[in-house]
Amino acid sequence: MAYPIERGRRLRRNEKIRRMVRETVLSLDDLIYPLFVVEGEGIKKEVSSMPDVYQMSIDNIVKECIELERLGLQSIILFGIPNHKDELGSEAYNDNGVIQQAIRAIKQNTGLYIITDVCMCEYTSHGHCGIIKDGDVDNDTTLKYLAMEALSHAKAGADMVAPSDMMDGRVAVIRDILDDNGFEHIPIMSYSVKYASAFYGPFREAAESTPQFGDRRSYQMDPANRREALREARYDLEEGADILMVKPALPYLDIIRDLRETFDLPIAAYNVSGEYSMIMAAVRNGWVDKDRVIMESLTSIKRAGADLILTYFAKEVARILG
Ligand code: PBG
Repeated sequence: MAYPIERGRRLRRNEKIRRMVRETVLSLDDLIYPLFVVEGEGIKKEVSSMPDVYQMSIDNIVKECIELERLGLQSIILFGIPNHKDELGSEAYNDNGVIQQAIRAIKQNTGLYIITDVCMCEYTSHGHCGIIKDGDVDNDTTLKYLAMEALSHAKAGADMVAPSDMMDGRVAVIRDILDDNGFEHIPIMSYSVKYASAFYGPFREAAESTPQFGDRRSYQMDPANRREALREARYDLEEGADILMVKPALPYLDIIRDLRETFDLPIAAYNVSGEYSMIMAAVRNGWVDKDRVIMESLTSIKRAGADLILTYFAKEVARILG
């Protein structure tokens, strides 16, 4: 009788050897935790489509950040939700806006690395990611506002800015304005490959940023496109991006892999709200094992080639790896 010569099972016999040959290991250093800041005091309101995710006022955000640090996490990405929204998203670049105040308060109370989302959709009355002209977002007008927003975040003390608007040329104008104002050391993590995805649904409730008319398909990418992802990433690289992001993550692991193989910059992936909510819904029904599904999903994103993962599961991972 012919026996197998190759026996893959030898290296799977127990947890010790499995750990020794493990190719991908998730670490807390890989994770960036998103937080939603609202105006006011004493507010901690759960997002109904995202269990355990909250909109918080600055006092509670600071408490949360202290807790995150205690858990061993080191980085957050902040989304600001102002009370006042208008056509030009003026709170986005108000040096005393909710996000700017939050950055200062977190800096005073923790050593966390603060990344800010640079976009107009949480700040505009129409919910689009830029300035509207003739019924659509006007690219070149929007650039000026995004640059002002990024500068305002940097002045408030942000460690890194992350433009998520998908306007052409925004990395270049943000790099320019930062450099002109003495912030040449602030990196740009660009949402380079951002698809027009249905998986952002729950986020739009969390960030109160649902477009009031139309959708985002004239600026976010068509989910069917793969080569276009490489072009978008290349534009951002040439404009000065320091980190390239793919978003969403799980339905786009092939794209993460493509970027990993094509570029030598760090790659980030955003494990978005819909990915989170789907898992949490299954968990709440008792249909899947929460900890194992979380670790498997995030490990697969890293295995695909992401160095950094933005995820609402970051605290859970801290608990699991505890
Ligand atoms: C835009 C932005 C969005 C997300 C991050 N930045 C939403 C959008 O483009 O509609 C989505 C993140 C998520 O779904 O978790 N400022």
